[in-house]
Amino acid sequence: MQQTHSELESLRLVVVGHVDHGKSTLIGRIFYDTDSLPHGKLEAIRKACAAEGMEFEYAFLLDALLEEQEQNITIDTTQIHFRTSRREYIIIDAPGHKEFLKNMVTGAARAEAAILLIDAHEGVREQSKRHGLLLSLLNIRQVIVAVNKMDLVDFSQEAFEKIFQQYSAYLGKLGVRATHFIPIAAKHGHNVLHRAMQMPWYDGPTILQALDSFQPSTSAENGPLRLTVQDIYRFDHRRIIAGRVESGTLAVGDEIVFVPDHKRSRVASIERWRADVPPFKVRAGESFAITLEEQIFVERGQIGCHLNAPCVEAREWKATLFWLGNEPLRLNQNYELRIGTQKLTARITAIEKVLDSETLEPASGARSEVGRHEVAVLRVHSRRPVALDNADTVTSTGRFVIIDGGRIAGGGVVSGLVYPKSDSGKVTSANISWTEGEIGREERAELFGHTGAVYWFTGLSGSGKSTLATGLERLLHRRGIHSFVLDGDNLRHGLCADLGFSEKDRAENIRRAGEVARLMAEAGLVVLTSFISPFRADRQRVREMCAASGIMFIEVYVSAPLEACEMRDPKGLYKRARAGEIHHFTGIDSPYEKPLAPELVLPTHEISTEECLQRLLNHVMSRVSRLQTSRTGEEAVLI
Ligand code: ADX
Repeated sequence: MQQTHSELESLRLVVVGHVDHGKSTLIGRIFYDTDSLPHGKLEAIRKACAAEGMEFEYAFLLDALLEEQEQNITIDTTQIHFRTSRREYIIIDAPGHKEFLKNMVTGAARAEAAILLIDAHEGVREQSKRHGLLLSLLNIRQVIVAVNKMDLVDFSQEAFEKIFQQYSAYLGKLGVRATHFIPIAAKHGHNVLHRAMQMPWYDGPTILQALDSFQPSTSAENGPLRLTVQDIYRFDHRRIIAGRVESGTLAVGDEIVFVPDHKRSRVASIERWRADVPPFKVRAGESFAITLEEQIFVERGQIGCHLNAPCVEAREWKATLFWLGNEPLRLNQNYELRIGTQKLTARITAIEKVLDSETLEPASGARSEVGRHEVAVLRVHSRRPVALDNADTVTSTGRFVIIDGGRIAGGGVVSGLVYPKSDSGKVTSANISWTEGEIGREERAELFGHTGAVYWFTGLSGSGKSTLATGLERLLHRRGIHSFVLDGDNLRHGLCADLGFSEKDRAENIRRAGEVARLMAEAGLVVLTSFISPFRADRQRVREMCAASGIMFIEVYVSAPLEACEMRDPKGLYKRARAGEIHHFTGIDSPYEKPLAPELVLPTHEISTEECLQRLLNHVMSRVSRLQTSRTGEEAVLI
């Protein structure tokens, strides 16, 4: 690359649009208008056209340029450059969908601006909309919508306005606003560099004026350091780490931490191929190698960060995803994911919302699949901890792609962490890590002879939750099933002693109880919980948390109605609540939301405790036991 490139201000541009809407013509025309063509090129092509009896087209210029680049291996073939008096522009390979998705991880699409073409004659097409959507997902905010081929609609203002209205409404739904809408005829150069006399009603900028008004993005360089590790080479005792700065800057002497793993060291040197003097500092967009003062263990995929602003380590996050796979994306299926240079296996644990990419209308009803060309808001769970960012904090490390059938089939942006959770839903726990144990669930299950599970008893105070949970614990214990009761009253003496009975406190109570239950189940126990847990959303969260960890969650609704519970009143609390001595008492002055689809319902006011226990025991034995065949005879007997 020539020395001058780094000195001249440059801006990276993508040009997108439906296949026939004039991308190559516009690019060719821009090259012509800005005099960016190699000497004699235009004449050569004009001549070649004449010899073939073909009409000259500007699109041929682009083809010729690309062809030439392919033969010249010293030039990066995916990029072409042109210049105005203001700055240099780098056109990133005018992408289709697939390239866009690939660019989401390779970072090649770090475009700062985009031109989106719409054919004035054909109008807004499906692909025009999808491209708009991709621009919004890639967070490209400087966008020119060029309404091309105005000559085919007699330069009609009305035709332009119609497209303007229609397309800005679409972008509006995405929360995106085009910086400029420009009527052009690229073939004739109207409103590309020169103002078109044929459209006196248009008084905005031309394409090149609009481009020159854009700002190069400095955000990547000004952002926190994100160094993606590409490779480790060993020379003697030294380890050389090859990587790329996706965001921020890195200097010799900086202390950095590698996520996940959190090993730290100082940068001893920065080295770059063919550099006479090793650089002291590198910035976003640069690839190089570093050596560290300590020879710590660093792996491909890790992200190096400064200590004061590390990226997040997470196993579950929320994402907005665009799906292009031939096969639908399926809930709970394992997929290969790439984030930066990290490769991981992950599962979609929830599909919260699905939108049609053309209409942006939400699909109705719960969905277990995302189809081609749909956009979904979902939750992703990775087996191993992953280093990432919220896409709105650091774009490049907040994007990922999903591989299906060996191909990139979808791309997404991280929109928040699910867990650990913060009020804003944003990534907050920056300095925590996750240590993966060596013993897997399978191994534990083998040792115990059964898998762990969470049986979540919910119901009014006095409905019989604790009676059933402790009764079941006894029965399971006798059968060699390792189990444990987590009881609301008990937890409120210790772990949850700081919580009362407001809606917020109950939510926190259930969150903590859910976390503990999940951990115990992960350790291999059959956990029996007894909490009123009156709110559906709180119970749902625990269910999802368990699902994300692959733990069976069984909601047991102990359904005795208020009258029955109040009549029993084992602790005399209903009486006191009625007398106004206790406030926010469930069933009296605080609501209980019945489960909508519990796995088990036990009407303790209608059937005996023995019968309830029998049903529970059968359920547990048939679900968790590894040895169930040899125990089937036992199941019928309550001892
Ligand atoms: S939950 O709503 O947060 O799930 P939890 O099951 O932990 O409640 O605790 C309920 C127990 O706390 C009841 O069994 C009862 O003994 C006691 N308690 C004290 N005050 C209240 C109240 N206002 N509402 C419900 N239970 C109460």
